[in-house]
Amino acid sequence: MKLTTIGCGYLGAVYAAAMASLGHDVVGLDVDEAKVAALNEGRAPFYEPALDDLIAESLRTGRLRFSTDYAQAATQQVHVICVGTPQQIDGPGADLRYVDAALDALAPHLDRSPDGPSLVVGRSTVPVGTATRLRERLAAASSAALLAWNPEFLREGFAVEDTLRPDRIVYGLPEDPDEARRAREILDAVYASPLAEGTPLVVGNYATAELVKVSANSFLATKISFINAIAEVCEASGADVSTIARAIGYDDRIGPKFLRAGIGFGGGCLPKDIRAFMARAGELGVTDALSFLREVDTLNNRQRDRVVNMTHRALGGTFTHKRIAVLGAAFKPDSDDIRQSPALYIASKLSGRGADVVVTDPAAADNVHAQRPNLAIAPDALTAAQGADIVLLLTEWAQFRALDPVALREVVATPWIIDGRNALDPQRWRDAGWTYQSIGRP
Ligand code: UDX
Repeated sequence: MKLTTIGCGYLGAVYAAAMASLGHDVVGLDVDEAKVAALNEGRAPFYEPALDDLIAESLRTGRLRFSTDYAQAATQQVHVICVGTPQQIDGPGADLRYVDAALDALAPHLDRSPDGPSLVVGRSTVPVGTATRLRERLAAASSAALLAWNPEFLREGFAVEDTLRPDRIVYGLPEDPDEARRAREILDAVYASPLAEGTPLVVGNYATAELVKVSANSFLATKISFINAIAEVCEASGADVSTIARAIGYDDRIGPKFLRAGIGFGGGCLPKDIRAFMARAGELGVTDALSFLREVDTLNNRQRDRVVNMTHRALGGTFTHKRIAVLGAAFKPDSDDIRQSPALYIASKLSGRGADVVVTDPAAADNVHAQRPNLAIAPDALTAAQGADIVLLLTEWAQFRALDPVALREVVATPWIIDGRNALDPQRWRDAGWTYQSIGRP
């Protein structure tokens, strides 16, 4: 099949390379020349294990290229919209300007493929109702192209694996049965073996496919805030949240995943998706149905402030002249993404309140420097911890999990650590002379 991806950010670059590796002919389109140039040299403009190799391999086969020239879409049949839908600057809803712009840029080049009818496929996370609106926009641009919605569920750090071996494939198809049949045939050809083999396929209308994605992310966010709420009760009662998570996770109706208590969720998806979902529900007149998501968001933010307060107490009620080593800035390990990062929020807040903060992160340091130039950055944990009055572990990178408490103790002023991710073995750190605190564990 001949495909374009519109948008070569996180989602688009991964999707383009993955589809080319399956044998499709793919043009990745983006308006950003620097990004396109880097991708054509086999370099992803962000940190993602396994992606550079996949891009380089597909470039070599000639089945993948990146371009800023949207006219290249004319030779392709399937056009996959992979642009971002960030939170609006002045509100909780999703900003759909990139989706609209992608469709408008594409429209003049549709309906020319020699291989059959054009299919526009939406993969971006959008508020329910967007696909129906885009369908009308396509018709207004006099395009006969079909439209389908096909949400993605990839996790950063596992993007290639999640794209090539998804848990499920979801199609959102047009209401008209004939259009739906034709759109489905094209999607089936895109996801032909080996990708579709053994992968459950779920088919619904546009609204259902749009809602699958936001429901999934809202459920994950709810699990995390739920366990963080239990962690707070554990702290007040002497119980251990890790043991509780393990015990309830054995019930397969609950499951063990996404029950790690800590400083909460961040990143480019969960926080913005639950806010956009609430905003959209409000527009649809069903605000009350999702009121629990407001609490999920509040609980998530509270976790961050709880760690700031814990640190304040540990430092004797003052940040003045206190040196704080912050291990981790990315919103999760194996990522350089600092969007909505709880770790970076905490580091900035401590610095803003007068502490002398030194941050270290194996991948996100450049991004931290670009966004928070006032934060001091160290190349590694041992350097960051020099003379520290307290150490905070805020992103559970393997490097930090493997830290030797005895060696780290040598360099700090006070051996006190707050493990914001419950990633370390309390006994090991206490045996090495540390005061060890974590979230919801005695
Ligand atoms: C998420 C979804 O997992 C993915 O399916 C969707 O397509 C996009 O959003 P991602 O943003 O890459 O993916 O991150 P994820 O691994 O889900 O982690 C989100 C946040 O939750 C991180 O900040 C992580 O540290 C936190 N988290 C995760 C917890 O605090 N506890 C947990 O148990 C799990």
